[in-house]
Parts: sequence; structure tokens; C-alpha cells
Amino acid sequence: MSVIAKQCPEIKVTVVDINEERIASWNDSNLDNLPIYEPGLKEIVEASRGKNLFFSTDVDKAIDESDVIFISVNTPTKTYGKGKGQAADLKHIELCARNIAKVAKDDKIVVEKSTLPVRTAQAIKSILDNTGKGVNFEILSNPEFLAEGTAIEDLLNADRVLIGGEETPAGKEAKDALSSIYEHWLPKDRILQTNVWSSELSKLVANAFLAQRVSSINSISALCEKTDANVDEVSRAIGFDSRIGSKFLNSSVGFGGSCFQKDILNLVYIARSFGLQEVADYWEQVIIMNDYQKRRFAENMITSLYNTVSGKKIVFYGWAFKKDTNDTRESAAIYIADALLEEKAELLIYDPKVSEKTIYADLDYLNTRTPEENRRLLRVTKNPIEAVDDAHAIAVLTEWDEFKTYDWSLIYDKMLKPAFVFDGRRLLDKEEMDTIGFKYYKIGQS
Ligand code: UDX
Repeated sequence: MSVIAKQCPEIKVTVVDINEERIASWNDSNLDNLPIYEPGLKEIVEASRGKNLFFSTDVDKAIDESDVIFISVNTPTKTYGKGKGQAADLKHIELCARNIAKVAKDDKIVVEKSTLPVRTAQAIKSILDNTGKGVNFEILSNPEFLAEGTAIEDLLNADRVLIGGEETPAGKEAKDALSSIYEHWLPKDRILQTNVWSSELSKLVANAFLAQRVSSINSISALCEKTDANVDEVSRAIGFDSRIGSKFLNSSVGFGGSCFQKDILNLVYIARSFGLQEVADYWEQVIIMNDYQKRRFAENMITSLYNTVSGKKIVFYGWAFKKDTNDTRESAAIYIADALLEEKAELLIYDPKVSEKTIYADLDYLNTRTPEENRRLLRVTKNPIEAVDDAHAIAVLTEWDEFKTYDWSLIYDKMLKPAFVFDGRRLLDKEEMDTIGFKYYKIGQS
């Protein structure tokens, strides 16, 4: 919404949320206190806030005044009832739709921005159309393809914008209206119009295909470790084939983030509910491979550290699910930590952008042990170099650029010997680390 406000000065954008604390942070005069860390975001908020970009808790007023309403609430995996662990929880979507239905007095375009299971638009439409006020609602699906850490860049230079809507004259008119917003800064041929169902499904499928690439290369990383092949050389060799392409072939400790796992589980659930067992199993394998990669990394750490990590100090460099974000949802680091804590390791975590509160909340959420036990075995530090004093091992779990700039000889001197580094991001130079004296493990290389 900040990017839309910045690119379309004549459009008034109001972002509303019932969470007062969050809206207060978005209105904070100190732009470093915005709730989300994203390169370039604070500059864009600063340019438009108070001019044509507003953050408010007055939801009803904003609904009443708007022509277009984007529903952008979260749709986490259900943790209860039917579809538990796989289906998307649409509680928040439904509450939004009911609120719009209650308040709206004139025609609105309602845009699904949240990632939703196929055919959710129908449910929204049915709620909206049964208000009995004679108001016409056009429902559009406009999934978001930005990646965290590069959000602003991705929005400004989007490969494509997808707009799904009904194939009626009114539906076409609504799609054109939304398209005209994006046409402020994107060429028209990158704005694709489809029917609602194609648009909703395409979002899930795009994420499934991307995650599948990571799981595919990660499966090969395990094979490379058993042979003399190097996973980077394999990625490069296959990526040069223009039909395969070079992006998203970096082997890692496993993908994380709020989207990949959730959306694939959702796809699996949808396929299964239509009786398409083989289709469901096929996509579920992407998740199974990702879980394997995380488990394999933790098990390798334990085996290398002479089959016991009990009482050993291990430092994590990185907790976020990727660099340049403070988001930790489904981050591989959480699961690696959990596995090592089960073996009674003592962990010290450093991440440049993630708070101590978030790290403990992530661990407590797993419910593997008591919060007290988590706090006894795991600590969080703001000093990455002091952290390694007398450490047995370091695990690099997020590819933050700053890790490459550290004085690794100094780090080596401070650690217990043999000093182990487990690089889950292929971030560091193997030859250099070997020369310093580290026992250096790089995922995807023997
Ligand atoms: C993803 C999609 O890219 C985006 O289009 C969609 O809108 C939301 O989901 P995001 O989750 O923000 O975006 O990050 P992404 O860059 O896709 O990375 C996801 C995970 O895969 C990260 O943990 C990342 O480290 C990992 N990854 C990515 C790899 O391990 N290797 C790769 O080559 C690429």
C-alpha cells in the first residue's frame, strides 16, 4: 500500500487494522520503529505518510470512504478442526467480509490480496451479496508475489501483476480499474487478467514451483556430500540451460518463510479434498524433502561433534528465514535449535535484526519443552564476536552479508579446538576456512 501511495499521489490510501499497537508503530515519528524491517520501506513510508497514506484503527470509516478495499489479513494453516495442519484458516477473511457487508452503503471493488484457497472469492461474494442493501460488490483476486527482503524492489519492478475477476462486463470494468493503479508504474503487458479461480490457484502454484526448486537442489546437495560433486557446480551447470534457468537453485539448510510451506500444504489439502491422492502426494514430497534437509543438518552437527552436544556451547549466526528481513516464520534455524536443545546443547543466538522476544516466542511455540527450559539452554546476544568465546561450533543459518566480513581468524582463536563451522547457507569460502584451521562443513560438498 505504501508503494501504491508513493506511485499514485492522487489516490488516497488508508491502511486499517484493529491492532492499535501495530497502527501506532506505523504512525511512529521514528521510522526505525515501523513494525516491519524491509530495505527501502521507511523511505517510501516517509515520502507519503500524512499526504496520501494513512494508518488508522477506524476500520468502518475507511470502508465507508473507499472505492476499492484490499483484504490483506493473514491466512495461517489451521491448527484445529477439519483440515488441521493443512487447510488455510479463513476466519480473518470472513470477519473482514462481514464487516464490509455491514458498513458499505455504495458499490465497492473488494480485492483479495491474502493468499487464499481456490474458490474463496465465491465465499466472500456470498457473504457480501446477502446483506440485503442492494450494494454491488465486484470481487477480484490480486495475489502478491513480492519476496521479503526485496519487497520494494519486487513491487516496483514486478515480473507480473495478476488480476482475477468475473468475466462479466462489470467484472471486466473492475479488473481494468485495479489495473489502472498498477499502470502508474508498470507496463500494461505485465498486468495479466484471468478468471478468479486461475488467479487464486496461480499464487499457490507459483510458490509450490519455487519451493520445489529449492527442495530439488537440496535433495541433490545430500547426494553431492556423498560424492565428490559440488552442488554449486551442479546448480550452475543445470542453470545455464535456459529451459531450467539459474534462479532459486541455491542449496540451503531448508526453505522457510510464511508462504512456501503454508501454500503447499494448502495445495495438498485442496488436491486431497478433490480425491486427487497422487497430486497431493506429489506436492507433499516438497515439504518432506525440506523437513529432511533440516533434520539432516542437525544430525550432521551432532555426529561431527563426536555424537554428543550435551553441555557444548554452539553459536548460531542468523535466525531469520533469509537475509534482509526480521521475519522468522518457519525459519530453519528454529528447527535446528529445537533438535540441538533436545540433545542438551547450550545455544547462543546472534541475528542482526531479530529480537530476543521473537526467538523465544518461536521456540516456545513448538511446545517441545517448557519456556523456562528454553531460556536456560538458549541465550541471545547482540555481540557476534564475543559470542564465540569457548564455543565448540558455529552454525551459519541465515545468509546475512555481514557474516562474510567478520575476522574469521579472530573467531577461530576464540573458539575451543577443534573449531567447527557448519555453513547451512554456503556463505563462506571453504578454502579460506580450511586454511585458518576450522573443521568446516559446507552444505552440498563432501
Ligand atoms: C516467497 C515467494 O518468492 C514470493 O513470490 C511470494 O510472494 C511469497 O513467498 P519469501 O518467502 O519472502 O517469498 O522468500 P523467498 O525468497 O522465496 O525465500 C523462501 C525461502 O527459500 C527462504 O528461506 C530462502 O532462504 C529459501 N531459498 C530460496 C533457498 O534456500 N534457496 C534458494 O535458491 C532460494
